[in-house]
Amino acid sequence: MNKLLLTVFATLVASVTTVTAYSQETKGDAQAGEKKINLCIGCHGIVGYQASFPEVHKVPKISGQDGKYIAAALHAYKKGERKHPTMRGIADSLTDQDIADVAAYYESSGVVAGAAAPGKAAAGSSKAMELVAKGACTSCHGESFSQPIDPSYPKIAGQHSDYLFVALKSYKTENNPMVGRGNAIMGGIAKQFSNAELKVLADYVGSLPGELKTVPQAKFR
Ligand code: HEC
Ligand code: HEC
Repeated sequence: MNKLLLTVFATLVASVTTVTAYSQETKGDAQAGEKKINLCIGCHGIVGYQASFPEVHKVPKISGQDGKYIAAALHAYKKGERKHPTMRGIADSLTDQDIADVAAYYESSGVVAGAAAPGKAAAGSSKAMELVAKGACTSCHGESFSQPIDPSYPKIAGQHSDYLFVALKSYKTENNPMVGRGNAIMGGIAKQFSNAELKVLADYVGSLPGELKTVPQAKFR
């Protein structure tokens, strides 16, 4: 190798090392996380708990969700990419370590050891299947809607459908200081559909068996 190539190679190695060091995530500890969820259980630890903003809907199930997605969502609230005011306030009060710990806790919470991963989702109405095909939903969320191709993408099978509907609409909402999610991927997808179509999608995905749960916790505190 000549000297120039060597230099280029050395620079590449150095920059790759820097990128790796930078992107190395804060490691979460589920046990530490369990001690940090007092702030969460008043909503996410009560089965069927209803939120009233921006419309009445159940708070999302987060037990059994992938920790990488939970952490990504909390960072998005903290940065204001997700505008939901209550969750922004809560995420703001968490350090990066807190986020990693509660994410690790909820990923393992309510998980049944040895449970079979859900298979290909059963078909819904022809309208629902047409919309699923148009949005290529399974190419990212998986054939079961519960095995996303990347752990920072959510499991959505069996999530509350009224929440899924609110979430899908929020990807379309722009120029509203209180409502909206600035995710480029889901923004592009949600905007292809009318709200009535998003409702059909939300009802179908919410009806599927999945791994997400609300683990009741209030009574233990
Ligand atoms: C006052 C009720 C309330 C409390 C307390 C609360 N949440 Fe939430 N949470 C919500 C609501 C409502 C949403 C849906 C927000 C939206 O539409 O983006 C949500 C969304 C989330 C999401 C995104 C879920 C998804 O599928 O994208 C995560 C993750 C989350 N909360 C984690 C937490 C954690 C961790 C805590 C405690 C540190 C907490 N929440 C405390 C009500 C609450
Ligand atoms: C190219 C990949 C991709 C495709 C295709 C895709 N999604 Fe997503 N989806 C994502 C990612 C990434 C997120 C997380 C976005 C964020 O962080 O807010 C997401 C988030 C969601 C959420 C929010 C979940 C929650 O817990 O808040 C819903 C609902 C959803 N997708 C439904 C769908 C539906 C229905 C389709 C098909 C019409 C679809 N997605 C197609 C990648 C995709």
